[in-house]
This record gives sequence, structure tokens and C-alpha cells, in this order.
Amino acid sequence: MKSASGHPSATIAGTPSLSSMFDLVNDEMALVEDWLKSNLIDDNAFVEELLKQIFCAGGKRIRPLIVLLSSKATAREVGKLSRLHIILAVLTELIHTASLVHDDVIDKASMRRGQETINKKWNDRIAVLMGDLLFAQASICLARIMNPVVVGIYGQVLGDLCSGEIKQMRQQFNTTVDWNAYIDKSVSKTASLFGAGSHSGAILNGCSNDVIQSLKEYGLNLGICFQIVDDLLDITGSTIETGKAVGSDLRNGVVTAPAMFVLEKNNEASARLKNLIDSRDIQTDEGAEEALQLIRDNGGVESTVALAQKYANDSIASLSLLKDSSYKTALAQLAEYVMTRTT
Ligand code: FPP
Ligand code: MG
Repeated sequence: MKSASGHPSATIAGTPSLSSMFDLVNDEMALVEDWLKSNLIDDNAFVEELLKQIFCAGGKRIRPLIVLLSSKATAREVGKLSRLHIILAVLTELIHTASLVHDDVIDKASMRRGQETINKKWNDRIAVLMGDLLFAQASICLARIMNPVVVGIYGQVLGDLCSGEIKQMRQQFNTTVDWNAYIDKSVSKTASLFGAGSHSGAILNGCSNDVIQSLKEYGLNLGICFQIVDDLLDITGSTIETGKAVGSDLRNGVVTAPAMFVLEKNNEASARLKNLIDSRDIQTDEGAEEALQLIRDNGGVESTVALAQKYANDSIASLSLLKDSSYKTALAQLAEYVMTRTT
């Protein structure tokens, strides 16, 4: 079932419906969608075609949702936004999408949002340049906001995205469990952008420092939770729902929370999983299947859910300073949604 906003309603009883959160920002999100689908123009027809392909393929639009809800929750006249907030939401989605286009090159991924990736359909060079083009569009948006603090925040995010990916590459096929390194990498590659999106609107609204800081904490914690759930969906998800290949982290030697919980056990299962990774057998169909089974049979899924829940709880707790409003409630519900998402 789809709501007016075009987002599916909840399918699990008790799970917050994403559509109810989108309904609070329906008009503003329509402007964001319009910008992404119609305003990104290029004088080359092929490039324009690719832009359409990228943005019409869907995407959950969670990051612009966070920008719009947090901006509305902290607006001087609660619920009232300016054009700058719309641009902020657009540029946050542009950076996210650009990073995925690059990520698919790095991961050699062939499917994203249920469609062939740019690197698969065309080639790596076109994908790298299309990602760059989207980053360029994001910088034009950033310039239009004309706020040097926000420019600095998003500049930091761009650096974090790159360093997060490099950290991940340096940890590939590493079976030594280091939780600090795992969380640190997740902050860089994912939570940093969530954090920027969650507090920049409050900066534009001229909020007090403590409100700005607590919204930043909200976004960082939610972003870590989001990445942990993403890592979990690589083990438990379905390709139909996620729109991408399942099990690809393991095959690429990206050792994430579900595997780490098994690896740290120091028993037969952990020794076998370590062996599959060390020997690179994990890159074969049989090896990957055995690893998935070891993780499922040895509590990797349950422990990962508990870890993600801790960050979801922390993100909700960070909202306590905000004035009560339907937007604040929706931000808290968003954390619950992220925990239960299957897409
Ligand atoms: C998805 O992770 C990827 C990211 C969250 C960030 C990727 C960032 C880059 C490639 C660097 C961007 C470059 C510049 C110039 C800023 P994932 O592989 O865990 O998720 P997935 O399962 O959706 O692919
Ligand atoms: Mg990837």
C-alpha cells in the first residue's frame, strides 16, 4: 500500500509507518523530488539520461527526510521552512547518491535500487565521472545556501566519506575483532552525512548551540544504527526488497558486526569462519553460504540487532532538548523505522 507521498505504509504491526513521517513534509519533499528529477540539467543528452536513470530509480530519501523534519522541528515558526532548507535536503541526497555511484565501482556491484548500476550498464569510468558530476551539483547547492559553517560541515562529510571507504578497504579480510575501528569506519562512511543533515537545518534556523549539538548527536547515532542494520541486511535481507545483491560484504571480505560477533567467540564456529575468510574461500558460493549459516546459527544476527538498538535508543534520547512537536515525534519514530527496515 502506498501513501500520497508514494512511500509504502508499514507492513509489520506496531512498526512506525514511513509514510506517516513523509506526510509531515509532503509539500517540501515534492520540491526536493522535483529538483532531483527535473532541475538537474546538462547540455549532454546522454548525461541527462543518466541523471534521470539515477534519480527515477527510487531510493528511500531518508536523508532529506531527516533534514526536513529536523529543520521543521527547530524552525522559529515550527513547521515553516525556507527555500534554503529545501536546497539543504537536495544536496544531502545528491551527496548520498554520488557516494553510492562511486561505492558501486569500488564494490564492483551490478545492482542498486533494483536496477543495473552505472558501472555495470556502462563502465567504471562513466560511473566515476557521473559520481563526480553529482558532487559538483551538490557544491553548487552548497554555495547557494551561503552559510560558511554549513559549507565547512559538508566539506568535512566529503572527506569522511572517502576516509571511511579507505578505512574499510584497509580492514578487508581482517578477522581481528576491533569494535572501535568498526564504529569509527561506520561514522565516517555513513553517520557523518546523517549528522550533517540532522543539525545543519537548525544552524540555518539560528538555534542555540545545545539544540544544534543534540541534533548532531541524533544524526550520528541514527547513522551508526542505519549502517549496522545495512550490514545485517547483507546477511538476512532479500535482494527483491533491498534491490541489491545479498552477501556481497562477506564475499568482498568486508567483515561487519554479524560476522564479528561470531569471530570473537573463540570456539569452533569462530575458527571455521576465520578460516573461510583467511583462505578467501568466502569468495566462493559454497564458502559464502557456509559463512552466512555460521553467522545465523551462532547468534550473529541477534547480537547485531541488539547493537543497532543501542544506537537507535541513543538517537532517540538525543532529542530530549527539542520542543515537543509532531516533527520531533517523527524523528524518534524514524529511529524505530530504521531498526525494522527491510529495504
Ligand atoms: C555504501 O556502503 C557506501 C557509503 C555509505 C559511502 C561510500 C563513499 C565513497 C565511495 C566515497 C565517496 C567519494 C567522494 C568523492 C566523497 P555499503 O557498501 O556498506 O552499502 P551498500 O550495501 O548499499 O553498497
Ligand atoms: Mg556497497
